Amino acid sequence: MNKFYNQLLENNKNWVASKIAEDPNYFKKLSLGQSPPVLWIGCADSRVPANEIIGAEPGEVFVHRNIANMVVHSDMNMLSVLDYAVNVLKVKHVIVCGHYGCGGVQAAMTNMHIGLIDNWIRHIKDVYRFHRDELDAISDETSRFNRFVELNVFEQVLDLGKTSIVQTAWERGQELHIHGWVYDISNGLVVDQKVTLTDNNKLADIYKLDL
Ligand code: CO
Repeated sequence: MNKFYNQLLENNKNWVASKIAEDPNYFKKLSLGQSPPVLWIGCADSRVPANEIIGAEPGEVFVHRNIANMVVHSDMNMLSVLDYAVNVLKVKHVIVCGHYGCGGVQAAMTNMHIGLIDNWIRHIKDVYRFHRDELDAISDETSRFNRFVELNVFEQVLDLGKTSIVQTAWERGQELHIHGWVYDISNGLVVDQKVTLTDNNKLADIYKLDL
């Protein structure tokens, strides 16, 4: 059998032992239920592990990850996670966390054809189109790529605000902050993009639902 694969199971046993050594009831407590205050929407990239980079323990973050941390309005998976997080778990914060060096965002800057994934990447291309004037004006390719990552996060924050799930929560007075972050793989630091939404005021009028 593959050595790396077997090591994963071994690591699990060691992790359980270390947790129980700290607190014999650790898993018993976790098994009783969850009430995480945060929903994380991040990239599937293996270098951006949600819990680890923010020092969160099991039970503290509800996590949804996909390629390029997208909020696609017809994605039943994302909508179901968001609905459960907002309406059942009553999370107070939703964090969209993008990252520099994101392969999905990079692919969206080109005309590269990969396969089925082209259709997912297309949503990121829409972000480029919305911000084409700003992005095309950046001559340095790395700087343009970095800015595209930031703008993609900004648009996903807005896209969360456009959902009926989030607008309904705000309408009934539920505390719900939607934040945009960018993680820098080269130094491990997160930069809060300061694009937080706490109500529908920053949405274009056409997206505001009469609730
Ligand atoms: Co990525």
